[in-house]
Amino acid sequence: MRLDKWLSDATNYTRSQLKQLIRSGQVSVNNCIVKRPEIAVSQTDIICLQGKPVTAAVSCYCLLLYKPLGYVCAVTDAAEKTVMELIPPDLQRKGLFPVGRLDKDTTGLLLLTNDGAFSHTLLAPKRHISKYYRMQLARPYEVQYAEQLAAGLTLADGTHCLPAEILPVPEIQQEAVICLQEGKYHQVRRMMAAVGNHVEQLQRIAIGGLCLPSDLQPGDCVLLTAVQMEQLQQPSDPTWLSMLVERCKEW
Ligand code: URA
Repeated sequence: MRLDKWLSDATNYTRSQLKQLIRSGQVSVNNCIVKRPEIAVSQTDIICLQGKPVTAAVSCYCLLLYKPLGYVCAVTDAAEKTVMELIPPDLQRKGLFPVGRLDKDTTGLLLLTNDGAFSHTLLAPKRHISKYYRMQLARPYEVQYAEQLAAGLTLADGTHCLPAEILPVPEIQQEAVICLQEGKYHQVRRMMAAVGNHVEQLQRIAIGGLCLPSDLQPGDCVLLTAVQMEQLQQPSDPTWLSMLVERCKEW
């Protein structure tokens, strides 16, 4: 394949931008600067753009972003900062979009992909890929929440929720972790309002069997490995929620 086409498939740059980058000596193939966009490259070549190796285009590309406060989950927005602005240039790809939404004031694990089918697999309630959120409540946790949520709550506007699980974080006042199988608008906040409490802070800490890595800082973004992509799709393990609650004590 031509070098400029290979780079265009693998990055967010246009062919004409890439031709300029190549001609200005910013691209190397196997450690040699090349200045001709039309040269042929193969699967085994190591191609660097501005000194950084570029990962070959894959049909399913998935990033994990530690979403900070104050960003909206949209590809573009006329008024607000979007999560797309947090993706470093070397991880940008054509067609990337956020998998579902976190509210502007929710932090934590957000996925971005270029693959609509993969996104659907992660979001469709019938695929049972659980989403785990840690919350700080305005009022003390009450034991009856677990039973109320397990029965499937009805929200103030009549919306029915699928059964959900919740556990308090021992020793940390007014904190709890909830596990949902679906992602309705403001769902955690509205569920906790329906049981008479109020969510002050909300963070997504895991999707399926994949946790928010403890070495990431808000705003950090990493490329998911194939193993991590499989972890996302692991069926729910009944002990996983308790393990996440234990982790919250150290986080
Ligand atoms: N539930 C909410 O209320 N907000 C989020 O951002 C995610 C789940």
